[in-house]
Amino acid sequence: MAISVAKAENSFERYIEQIHSIWGNGKDPQLPFMVKALMEKFLASTPPEEPWMAELIREAKPGRELYRDPEHGFIQMGHVHQKGHANTPHDHGPCWVVYGAYSGVTDITVYRRTDDGKDPERAALVRKDLHRLTPGVVYPYLPGDIHSVHAVEGPAVVFRFLSTDLEKVERYRYNLAKGTATRV
Ligand SMILES: [Fe+2]
Repeated sequence: MAISVAKAENSFERYIEQIHSIWGNGKDPQLPFMVKALMEKFLASTPPEEPWMAELIREAKPGRELYRDPEHGFIQMGHVHQKGHANTPHDHGPCWVVYGAYSGVTDITVYRRTDDGKDPERAALVRKDLHRLTPGVVYPYLPGDIHSVHAVEGPAVVFRFLSTDLEKVERYRYNLAKGTATRV
């Protein structure tokens, strides 16, 4: 674990404890929205001087695993994206994800498939929504939601909560222009 949350009572530790306490069997369809609310509270209550946050900002790594729950398997990531950072459309397979901005401005584009999904290597996508994450703004994305991320203003400190380790699931990246889907 990159950052120890066990040593001190801080806002991150409280946030993780709250998620752990509401998790249950992890199957409640309201969980993504409950985590969204907890992340909003956590983002609003964490000053940049809090030591672990100051370290995250100072180190400015593109991705850090801040916490992995030994019992339930959920993961909290911390990202620092420089202006212009972008990824291609992707889904998280059967997992859900919650993205929240602490600083900077991050645009998340959400896509809709217009094909029947029968060919696993092809996918026709159209843009459905644009979510602008300014500091304190949090959005959940449900299983199968296709999205892409773009740091419009940086450095953008972004928190990404993963319901399950993405390395363990079947998921896809999409090429919008070519209309293709590739298993990650
Ligand atoms: Fe994602």
